[in-house]
Amino acid sequence: MTRVLVIGGGIAGLWAAVRSADAGCSVELVTKTELAESNTRYAQGGIAAALFPDDSAARHMADTLGAGAGLADLEAVRVLCDEGPARVRDLIRFGVAFDRGDSGLSRGLEAAHSRARIVHAGGDATGAAIEAALVGTVRRRAVRIDERTMLVDLLVEPGHGGRPAVVGARLLDGQGAITLRRADAVVLATGGNGRLYRHTTNPDVATGDGVAAAWRAGAAVADLEFTQFHPTALAAPGTPLISEAVRGEGAVLRDVAGRRFMTEVHPDAELAPRDVVARAVWRRMAAQGGEPVRLDATALGEEFLAERFPGLDRVVRDDGFDWSREPVPVTPAAHYAMGGVATDLDGRASLAGLYAVGECARTGVHGANRLASNSLLEAAVFAERAARAIASPVSSPVVGTHDRHTAQEPVRDGVSRPRADDSSRVPVDRAALQALMWEHVGLERDEQGLAEASVRLDGWSAPAPVDRRSAEDRNLLDLARLTVAAALARRASAGAHFRTDDPSGAPGAAAPALAPELEAA
Ligand code: SIN
Repeated sequence: MTRVLVIGGGIAGLWAAVRSADAGCSVELVTKTELAESNTRYAQGGIAAALFPDDSAARHMADTLGAGAGLADLEAVRVLCDEGPARVRDLIRFGVAFDRGDSGLSRGLEAAHSRARIVHAGGDATGAAIEAALVGTVRRRAVRIDERTMLVDLLVEPGHGGRPAVVGARLLDGQGAITLRRADAVVLATGGNGRLYRHTTNPDVATGDGVAAAWRAGAAVADLEFTQFHPTALAAPGTPLISEAVRGEGAVLRDVAGRRFMTEVHPDAELAPRDVVARAVWRRMAAQGGEPVRLDATALGEEFLAERFPGLDRVVRDDGFDWSREPVPVTPAAHYAMGGVATDLDGRASLAGLYAVGECARTGVHGANRLASNSLLEAAVFAERAARAIASPVSSPVVGTHDRHTAQEPVRDGVSRPRADDSSRVPVDRAALQALMWEHVGLERDEQGLAEASVRLDGWSAPAPVDRRSAEDRNLLDLARLTVAAALARRASAGAHFRTDDPSGAPGAAAPALAPELEAA
């Protein structure tokens, strides 16, 4: 029986575990905290798929490729959009009660979608509904679940033809004990890395553990320069996300003087691609001395806001704002990692035995900027494909094929690994690292700032991974170095990677290339 070790308890990990168990594998799932804690749980907007008669997979593809600024992989996007509707129906079978109106499933609009196609649950609690349904489903399967167990490193041994293969993982349990777990397939589903930044919408588990461990093991990683910054986090402690769906319902952005400014920036105004809106907010804040801009949802009315966005209504009011009467202060915050472990279309990484699914994977569907509400979909679609591939493995991994999908050479080298003589380095300080990343590797970057960040990062040493905090700090330092190296290597702007010293490739400068069959969509 194939032994599968799944690492991560969000939608991608739960899906991979459930479907691998369904396929007859022996499955163990480990999560860093309790099972339900992941980025998935906080997803507000919903899940996008071409489910409605006025929509099509080709149209969803065109929107996804457009948002990706010409760097999304056509085949990966095709898979995402073609298989997406079936995965949403699977979610319904798993027990997710998507919101319904008189004529069937309710749907919302978000930025850069040409159709209202985002289905949601509990108004703004889609992620929580999906997480709860999948946690219930996995508990009904014969899956061993180890909570409070963290990935430290992958175990690598010579495999077929002497090529390195992943054969398991080193794990750290809640008591601080290291255990070795062997498996035929290791599925990384460790989510994002928003905690690299001082301001983020991500929960504190989002420290990029899987990507860092995969890189240390020698797997290819790619596109780490593409971090998505969400334009509207509430400017309050913890920067909670205010879903783009609020703008989809008609809320607008205003500067401190009350002027609506997005109409001057992009024809789609507040519903322009997320990177465009985030940068416009960032610049407007700079122009008004750092003061947050305002999200004005007052036209939506008290009753509608409470009914359509019950969770957000609570959060905003708990922070002392009555958003039905006054515009609320918002600021950009790190939200999503487009890059990660480079995979093929079945979630295979470049090392035999290793798979990556969900936010920690770089499948190529997002290019330089993810289309809103495509992340839950990506996790479901590619976790399903990975589970099928694991259950019927090909004789050898498709080493190198992921490079075909890689817009830029994957970062393998060029990032300093710990030197033998580390004595000149001082232990990394997480808050200082997050501040450095925010300042120099944030919404706008340039050569000088990136070079400065690189030098600062090189002066820090990683702690030995003896507990969760130190293991995370090691991962954050590795990822920060990789991200800076990737951002330095990509000299021209593209999507969410905006180089002020070469903005030529930024959205608006050139239309992204679309496949001929999509031009007509
Ligand atoms: C949001 O609700 O604005 C976030 C959804 C997403 O990141 O796709």
